[in-house]
Amino acid sequence: MNKTTRTQIVTTALPYANGAIHLGYILEAIEADIWVNFQKMRGNECYFIAGSDAHGTPIMIQAEKHGLTPEAFIAKIAHEQLADIEQFGIKFDNFYTTHSPENEQLAGDIYHRLQKAGAIIRKTIHQAYDPVKNMFLPDRYVKGTCPRCKSVDQYGDNCEACGATYASSELIDPKSVLSGATPETRATEHLFFDLPQYADKLKQWLSGPHVAKEIQNKMQEWFDVGLQTWDISRDAPYFGFEIPGEKDKYFYVWLDAPIGYMASFKNFCAKKPGLDYDAFWKQDSKTELYHFIGKDIMYFHTLFWPAVLMASQHRLPNQVFVHGFVTVNGEKMSKSRGTFITAKQYLEKLNPEYLRYYFAAKLNGGIEDIDLNFKDFMQRVNSDLIGKIINIAARTASFIGKFFDNQLAAQLTHKELWELFVNKQSEIADYYETRDYARVLREVTALADKANEWIAERKPWQMAKEHGGSEELKEVATLALNLFRILIIYLKPVLPKLALSVEDFLQIAPLQWNDINTPLLAHTVKPFTALMTRIEENQIAEWI
Ligand code: MSP
Ligand code: ZN
Repeated sequence: MNKTTRTQIVTTALPYANGAIHLGYILEAIEADIWVNFQKMRGNECYFIAGSDAHGTPIMIQAEKHGLTPEAFIAKIAHEQLADIEQFGIKFDNFYTTHSPENEQLAGDIYHRLQKAGAIIRKTIHQAYDPVKNMFLPDRYVKGTCPRCKSVDQYGDNCEACGATYASSELIDPKSVLSGATPETRATEHLFFDLPQYADKLKQWLSGPHVAKEIQNKMQEWFDVGLQTWDISRDAPYFGFEIPGEKDKYFYVWLDAPIGYMASFKNFCAKKPGLDYDAFWKQDSKTELYHFIGKDIMYFHTLFWPAVLMASQHRLPNQVFVHGFVTVNGEKMSKSRGTFITAKQYLEKLNPEYLRYYFAAKLNGGIEDIDLNFKDFMQRVNSDLIGKIINIAARTASFIGKFFDNQLAAQLTHKELWELFVNKQSEIADYYETRDYARVLREVTALADKANEWIAERKPWQMAKEHGGSEELKEVATLALNLFRILIIYLKPVLPKLALSVEDFLQIAPLQWNDINTPLLAHTVKPFTALMTRIEENQIAEWI
């Protein structure tokens, strides 16, 4: 279509298949989905790839609690999660799972490449062992009294009361969370990825345009402390992939989880003739790769994952986009404080597009936390989205039906105003590209203010009252609807469902970015019906 068409893979992190999807992951999926929609509207070849992260001890334990095999448990959870995610208008090109034959094959292949590169080391470690369950215990599965402040019931890695970090063997009176037994300390041989070997290459990569400045600073702290080798193996029983050539050893979930991005894409290629998997992942690939993640999993995506890709001779991500955490009314999402909101709970009360709009209004590409304040939420949706933007159509569209047989005028008068809207396109495109959606919405709202001022000056309702269906009225309503149409193009990445309703009302093909430049004239539209309703206070009462 145009010579600057880009070919891209975009991912969200793969949510753990161990519970209901909550608004934290939904923020990430919305941020990524907006970016993908924008890329697609620009005519780029963009693939939105994700899946569920199915491995690890917590999932194995949860499955057992539910009386299910891990396979049955993850299938059920993934199905429920995807259904919730899709309700928010998030459209993955492929949503797969890390527990797949593609992933097992890729993980094994990458492991062999790491071995060949001399990046795998063996070391004996000492770990807590549950003599009743006959298994090694991750730190989170040991609880006891903090050796420093003596608070009881603290996890085996750090104390929530005083912040001390320690080994689970240092706890006073440690107990296994699974059986209540006192853990033993046992020796076991583990496999490690030699991350320090890649320190220089990583430093160099990270000084490039691959992460934001604030992330680079954070990474520098990690380099200053010094990189450590990374334990990539776990002992049986474990739910994951067995390590080839080892006995009773499994890949740690975080080794095969990001490889799950590749596996999901590979699975997608099998369904899409003509897509060449290798062209996307080989070292000198001309395609682009972007990962959207939350700040808690930065270490995995900016150190381990790029180093594994380097060592296994694959391409690296173009950028890792990191976002902050969702808080609710200024507080961390927490079940005990009643600020934990699942996707389902939200959907029972409110239109998902409100949340897309609100999160977009708050996202600016930085890593600050994103507060979901329900008073602010209602205010922004009601007064900006509905009161300003949708209002442009609501106050002018009816005249086209009433007097002109649903037919728009054949030319635009007051082209300056239309040109002002058109000329904002590259600025707004830049804001999308840099994920500054807050800026996009500020610009769109400012344009909506201009449109509304102009309509208020022309007073089409007065024209209608005084002269009925005049040519002047037709031209005012036609311009207003054309301004509205441009704003809907600008908003479409954020509000795909609203855009769909507008496309139906205007009787037009799916709007693309380029459509900004051609006005809609001498064209028959459908009778106007309300596009979106206001939020009523009782819908959000329980969250205020
Ligand atoms: N399974 C890993 C990711 C593996 S990627 C190869 C994981 N899963 S998760 O379910 O815990 O989180 C999925 C994504 O949601 C992560 O990017 C995480 O940062 C994000 N969020 C989890 N809680 C969040 C908030 N409260 N707010 C915003 N994002 C949050 O990590
Ligand atoms: Zn303590």
